[in-house]
Amino acid sequence: MAQKAAEKAPAFFGQQEYAKGLDGVIACETHINYIDGAAGKMIYRGYDVEEIGEQTNYEETAYLLIYGKLPTQSELDDFTAKLISYRSVPPEVIQVLKIIPTAKTHPMSALRTGVSALGTFNPDAEEQSVENYEDIGLQLIAKLATIAGAVQRIRAGKEPVEPDPSLDHSANFCYMMTGEKPSEVFEKMMGLSLVLHADHGVNASTFSSMVVISSLTDMYSAIAAGIGSLKGPLHGGANEQVLYMLNEIGSADKADEYMDNAIKNKVKIMGFGHRVYKAYDPRARIFALHSKELCEAAGKPELYEIAKRVEEKVIDAYGAKGIFPNVDFYSGTIYHCLGIETAMFTPLFAVSRVAGWVARILEYLPQNRIFRPRAVYLGEKDLQYVPIDQR
Ligand code: SDX
Repeated sequence: MAQKAAEKAPAFFGQQEYAKGLDGVIACETHINYIDGAAGKMIYRGYDVEEIGEQTNYEETAYLLIYGKLPTQSELDDFTAKLISYRSVPPEVIQVLKIIPTAKTHPMSALRTGVSALGTFNPDAEEQSVENYEDIGLQLIAKLATIAGAVQRIRAGKEPVEPDPSLDHSANFCYMMTGEKPSEVFEKMMGLSLVLHADHGVNASTFSSMVVISSLTDMYSAIAAGIGSLKGPLHGGANEQVLYMLNEIGSADKADEYMDNAIKNKVKIMGFGHRVYKAYDPRARIFALHSKELCEAAGKPELYEIAKRVEEKVIDAYGAKGIFPNVDFYSGTIYHCLGIETAMFTPLFAVSRVAGWVARILEYLPQNRIFRPRAVYLGEKDLQYVPIDQR
């Protein structure tokens, strides 16, 4: 038996390079998204995100990612109607969000808890048919906005509001966060942000949700894992850290000294660098344009000036190493100008990225194989056990 297993062991085992952080390792095949890191290009199912970003909406993007094609009008209407019908969450989930210290804990922890609670109220949560995984996936796309909206309202000391079926996904999300119908600018920028953050290759949170689902566990566990990973400051949590940094700098004339210090001390600058992009992140390019507009319209031109100066200093110092702004650098300035609480920036990212997590899971499941990498063992071998009274 051992001999047979040894024969089955991949021939390269033992010679394969250890890739820290799985850098460069191919973990799956996909038709969903491609990132050209050198050119700073990114496509959803063949469509360049800089082309479609301002023409499409979140519902159409989610449909494209999951089903592989742009929907016809009737397909989009049916999909939108289904998401609208899925928006409400059991009142007990809202109760859970009120029982945990939602106003004090990190909103991503509250969001993660809300998703876990949601799963316990679904009697079909454990059913493993592809149809059920897909249906729960669509429910989570619809309900994550509702849970995030409720988290924001409870943090603001206000009652969560019921979803408004007359509003599209991004406008309804704004409404559930603020309790008011969004302005045209708010709705437009939220819609663009949800489109641009929807999917992005095998990033840490997407990979987390794929690894978790690969054991054929339930969808709620996989999405909660994605939320947990996205929360980290090296990943989705960077957008929040960027704003804290810009506020700490305080004015454009202080940016040079602050950045010279950070660069001298080799501080990782939040919102810069990427495992795949060694050029400007195309999403950051789009956000930078809107950041200038919105900061000026909000009477906060200085915020954009500080960000611009930080960008110049970082590219000057690290551009040659392929370190440029990533999606998280300008997105926070936009959210800030829309009046969104800084701690809520990463939940906004999750409300969008859940479409990518679901699309990847549904793509991987039909040819599922549990993720189980190896490690290079560097420890001792053949040690003899010594009874405790002789140690
Ligand atoms: C997102 O994967 C995705 O697609 C993610 C994402 C998505 O849509 O899902 O695009 C969203 O998470 C964007 C990234 C947000 N995170 C940040 O902005 C945090 C700051 N960035 C870094 O921590 C870093 O760039 C990462 C985490 C994004 C990427 O890390 P890597 O690929 O492991 O790179 P590394 O840490 O090994 O750095 C390589 C070199 C090092 O220098 P040397 O030791 O070789 O001299 O580049 C340097 C690093 O010090 N470096 C930075 C830097 N990022 C890398 N130096 C200063 N500031 C930075 N931001």
